[in-house]
Amino acid sequence: MLTDTFGRQINYVRLAVTDRCNLRCQYCMPAHGIDIVPRKELLTYKEMYRIIRVLTELGVNKIRLTGGEPFVRKDFIGFLEMLSFNDLLDDINITTNGALIVNHIETLEQLPKVKNINLSIDSLQREKFAIITRRDVFPGVYDTFLKLEQSKLNLKLNVVVQSGFNTDELVDFVALTKDKNVSVRFIEEMPFNGKGQRNTEEKWSFTKILQTIAQEFDFKEIPSEKSSTSKNYKVANHKGSFGIIPAFTRTICNDCNRIRITPTGTFKNCLFDDGVFNLRDFIRDGASNDDLKELFLKLIKEKPENGFIAEANRKGNVSESMSTIGG
Ligand code: GTP
Ligand code: 5AD
Ligand code: SF4
Repeated sequence: MLTDTFGRQINYVRLAVTDRCNLRCQYCMPAHGIDIVPRKELLTYKEMYRIIRVLTELGVNKIRLTGGEPFVRKDFIGFLEMLSFNDLLDDINITTNGALIVNHIETLEQLPKVKNINLSIDSLQREKFAIITRRDVFPGVYDTFLKLEQSKLNLKLNVVVQSGFNTDELVDFVALTKDKNVSVRFIEEMPFNGKGQRNTEEKWSFTKILQTIAQEFDFKEIPSEKSSTSKNYKVANHKGSFGIIPAFTRTICNDCNRIRITPTGTFKNCLFDDGVFNLRDFIRDGASNDDLKELFLKLIKEKPENGFIAEANRKGNVSESMSTIGG
């Protein structure tokens, strides 16, 4: 079992399969001049499979695949099929921007361990969507949303709350839950746009988001899994629900059950740490599965109680691009 020094059991790994993305979201990447990691520095699927296998032997049973955009990586579906052979994995979840997946939905439905899809969609208005993502792909993404909603897959929408861009749409998103079986999650914007600064002047906190929605809707809190990133709510008679992820005001560390692996194989105990070890080099230097196991048991003991505070104390700010850490 992977248990940290604060008694938290780690059973969820977030693996970013690529740093590349077909979009350029304002809060995630700069428009130009992105340093793309050379292909040979990325973990291969075989290396990823092996790392995940060892982690599952230590008690991990859930994986979330992120990016960049995971579907940008060649033969990502083949990797999902490969991962499905790991009998110790129960859930394979994916976070995607949805722009490339409309033709893959049926295949995803047929993979029994693929259960939860989190779709990033920050505006319901085509023009605004194009400003936020710097690409005019809203119609295709919305079509994907409608098809996913009708599919067997469990669907969440991720809406990064950006002051001045989409804060007037919060109620439209909640209205969407009336007849759509979807959980809309509003995410506090974090300082990961590759520029080392936040985009916005005014910070939309959890409380402010909730108060804004309360002006329009009556809702009740609904139970969430202990390690859930969001607090969740439901408007009476609505088919779906909504939630808020306090990604910036940070009240979710106590129940954290996750670790992360970046596209270049860096092991991260926390979203906010700089990475504590490079697994790719360790493997390419000939480490055995037992070496990996021993390493993970050691690394997990370095997991900070609250990574954001630890990192801010260390550096004064946090400035990577989200696409290189996988969210
Ligand atoms: P599930 O709980 O599996 O539905 O997914 P999730 O909410 O963890 O994952 P998703 O990839 O949809 O991420 C949604 C938002 O939560 C993103 O902005 C992530 O960066 C943020 N997030 C995910 N894990 C953590 C975490 O450990 N700490 C913080 N602060 N934010 C996180
Ligand atoms: N702040 C908050 N959420 C972010 N995401 C990407 N960048 C940021 C940021 N700076 C979200 C994406 C995606 C998830 C993995 O992380 O919208 O849904
Ligand atoms: Fe791409 Fe996701 Fe970053 Fe947007 S948030 S640029 S979709 S990696």
